[in-house]
Amino acid sequence: MEKKKFYIETYGCQMNFSDSEIVVSVLKDNDFEITKDPKEAELIFINTCSIRDNAEQRVWKRLRELKSLKKKKPELRIGVIGCMAERLKQQLMEEEKAVDLIAGPDVYRHLPDLISMAEAGQKAANVLLSEEETYAEISPVRYASNQVTAFISIMRGCENFCAYCVVPFTRGKERSRNPETILKEATKLLEEGYREVTLLGQNVNSYHWEKGNGITGFPQLLEKIASINPLLRVRFATSHPKDISDQLLQVISKHENICNAIHLPVQSGSSRILKLMNRKYTREWYMDRIRTIKKYIPDCAISTDIISGFCTETEVDHKDTLSMMKWAEYDYAFMFKYSERPDTLAAKNLKDDVPEKVKSERLQEIIELQQQLSFESNKRDIDKVFKVLAESTSRRSKNHLSGRNSQNKVVVFPKLAYKPGDYVKVRITDCTPATLIGKAVDSDI
Ligand code: SAH
Ligand code: SF4
Ligand code: F3S
Repeated sequence: MEKKKFYIETYGCQMNFSDSEIVVSVLKDNDFEITKDPKEAELIFINTCSIRDNAEQRVWKRLRELKSLKKKKPELRIGVIGCMAERLKQQLMEEEKAVDLIAGPDVYRHLPDLISMAEAGQKAANVLLSEEETYAEISPVRYASNQVTAFISIMRGCENFCAYCVVPFTRGKERSRNPETILKEATKLLEEGYREVTLLGQNVNSYHWEKGNGITGFPQLLEKIASINPLLRVRFATSHPKDISDQLLQVISKHENICNAIHLPVQSGSSRILKLMNRKYTREWYMDRIRTIKKYIPDCAISTDIISGFCTETEVDHKDTLSMMKWAEYDYAFMFKYSERPDTLAAKNLKDDVPEKVKSERLQEIIELQQQLSFESNKRDIDKVFKVLAESTSRRSKNHLSGRNSQNKVVVFPKLAYKPGDYVKVRITDCTPATLIGKAVDSDI
């Protein structure tokens, strides 16, 4: 029997990309076949994000495009899955007649049943959140992979309820995945030729697994994965500053293959704003954590997330954010304008009172400062030698490879006889604000 073809497109964070790999796995096991061409698909899924209003607007726009595709091809079925499906089930059902199927992040095992319903002409929707689902034993299908690096989801959900954030509502309760299945997945990836795994969770530092008398916390899990084989590099994201422990830093400093890069979202440099954001740390606490990171791992890169224009933010608060950035000398940052999300603590209790124009101006200032900081950080790397994991041919030149060093910086260098998956010692000779440029140096790694 001919397999039905489906196409999937993903918006949002790494967790969502990782979830799409689960979806592909579930569907492949049920006689569906993935296609890279939406035009030849009988089923189109969009895995959606609700983190900011503009993330949702992109999806509405895409749905309008798909609607016109469906007019030409009435047998096409469209599924909206992920965080926006969770948040807006009702609205998607009522307003978007083109949508045939709606599935929240915890029901992907049931997709084949939902598809059957949709094909029978029924509205198929399930957005139940689970307290247990981790898709632990499902082998993700790495359908868009570079064959060198992969994500492994180690936990789901979030219960931190940062005042601005929709994730606890779209992803539900925090739960950790069985460590044995994580180890198995990492081992299998290594055997298949992969050389780097990134462990994913909204707050990996609260990973917690109990069996009998044994407790596995994040430092233990990380250590186990790093011990599989020195050839397999390990990264992780995201660390909440309130939970990053000295024990974790010790584990990182002990293992050469645990990368020296920590993503530690600060959100704001003002303790007053951090309190309103319900981040549960102060500016001083955050600075202490960075000092401690540098003590254990002197060459550790630090990246961050910043929100401009949160409720009641003044010019003084904004200056605190800028001074924090300069102090921390962030190597990289994701920067956003505050976008009020319905039902969050901030939407309920605080006024979104910073004018759009001010939010934009502050964001612009933050972006410009970060560009400078990233450039300076890259310039400091000139003449240094890094062990780089080659990932793919450079987009700009087929004679160059692109990879990353332990600090998660992109490094481009002449290909010569090297290939993706190789570790190469590269001396940095030049840089742009976003990229290090270098040449391989002879030596064994
Ligand atoms: N769990 C991670 C973050 C996940 S969301 C953490 O706690 O760090 C990724 C980033 O999106 C956040 O760090 C924050 O900077 C940004 N973000 C989340 N909600 C937002 C909102 N309502 N408006 C603007 N940015 C937001
Ligand atoms: Fe959102 Fe905060 Fe949870 Fe991160 S820790 S996902 S910002 S609620
Ligand atoms: Fe990720 Fe967006 Fe959901 S950031 S968890 S896909 S709201």
